[in-house]
Amino acid sequence: MSTPSDTTALRGVPAANAGLAAPVQLAAQVQLAAQVQLAAQVQLAAQVQLAAQVQLAAQVQLAAPVHEGLPFTAPWLLAPMEGVTAPSFRGHVLKRHAASDLGGAFTEFVRVIRGPVSKSEMRKHLGADRFPIPVGLQLMGNDLEGVRGSVRNAIDLGVPVVDLNFGCPAKGALRGCAGAAALKDPVTMEETVRVAVEGAEGRAPVTAKIRAGFDHADDVEVLARAAEAGGASMLTIHCRTRREGYCEEVDWTRIERAVNAVSIPVAGNGSAWEHADLERMRRETGCAFVMVGRGALKSPWIFTSREVSRREAAAFLIEYHDTLKSMGARPKGAVGRVKQLMNYWTAGGLIASEEDRATWMQSTDFEAFEARLRQEAS
Ligand SMILES: Cc1cc2nc3c(=O)[nH]c(=O)nc-3n(C[C@H](O)[C@H](O)[C@H](O)COP(=O)(O)O)c2cc1C
Repeated sequence: MSTPSDTTALRGVPAANAGLAAPVQLAAQVQLAAQVQLAAQVQLAAQVQLAAQVQLAAQVQLAAPVHEGLPFTAPWLLAPMEGVTAPSFRGHVLKRHAASDLGGAFTEFVRVIRGPVSKSEMRKHLGADRFPIPVGLQLMGNDLEGVRGSVRNAIDLGVPVVDLNFGCPAKGALRGCAGAAALKDPVTMEETVRVAVEGAEGRAPVTAKIRAGFDHADDVEVLARAAEAGGASMLTIHCRTRREGYCEEVDWTRIERAVNAVSIPVAGNGSAWEHADLERMRRETGCAFVMVGRGALKSPWIFTSREVSRREAAAFLIEYHDTLKSMGARPKGAVGRVKQLMNYWTAGGLIASEEDRATWMQSTDFEAFEARLRQEAS
């Protein structure tokens, strides 16, 4: 049925075409209706998209930081760990914590080899999920222009803090004069930090993570000051030297020396195995933050003093296993990654003794391993 305005639109149609008026009118109406419908759909889609964006922004919104100039929401940080702190493990840790308990986490190191790391590569390390707890991206490399461009790309993606790795002891990193190699060359370290800070253009802070030295810890102050002079907003010091690898005994006075050498906040790192160690390290060294590596593999709840049940502990591991499989891991790979945690795991009393740990670790029947874990979690 035509509306008055529709017929008005057809006025003046020549008499010869009068016979065509009805079909033309109908066609015009259909076309108009389709246009109106399309416009409404487009508008609706735009509204839905906007709502989704707003919702996403709300989900992504970080909790309030505890230190000016840094995004961290609490003094305890999850360390970058290659092959561990991928989105899968990290996501399971983050989703179990309030931002007031766990202050931040990092990706494992991303190598800058020749030129900037692409955004798509970075997305793989960042994962799709967002939390109120900030996740920084860690870069490692000595190609200065590559570092500059990578920092820019990371911040374009919304990364709230970029960390630079000057502690990786792996031979591959050292051959490429990256990672711990910088501990022998504080001038290059300072320059790398400076270029990264330039790349950030004040849009996000750049932090640096060092070990206490290469072969000895005599120059902790020199290294800490190099990072500060380059413009780092925070220094993380893993208190072992490269030579010491992951030795059991650690010397936290090296953290205290770094704290006293610089005016930027320091994150202490090295053998914080229990929740009580976090406060103790802060008290004994004066560091502002404590970064936890393997302690979080012992118990992902180390950031709080909460005791977890055996079932909760098993649920973490089986959910982690399932996430890995959903991301394409084969049974052997998924179980292998769970065993990587079980090597350290004490949470929930799930592993009753070292003999029990050995039975878990030596199991080569992936289905039986998975079934046992699933039963523990049920
Ligand atoms: C499996 C593993 C992978 C690691 N990968 C990284 C890394 O990608 N970047 C980094 O800066 N440090 C890395 N580290 C060092 C840790 O971040 C941390 O400095 C070290 O484990 C000492 O802390 P912890 O005694 O609390 O474990 C790694 C450590 C482990 C055990």
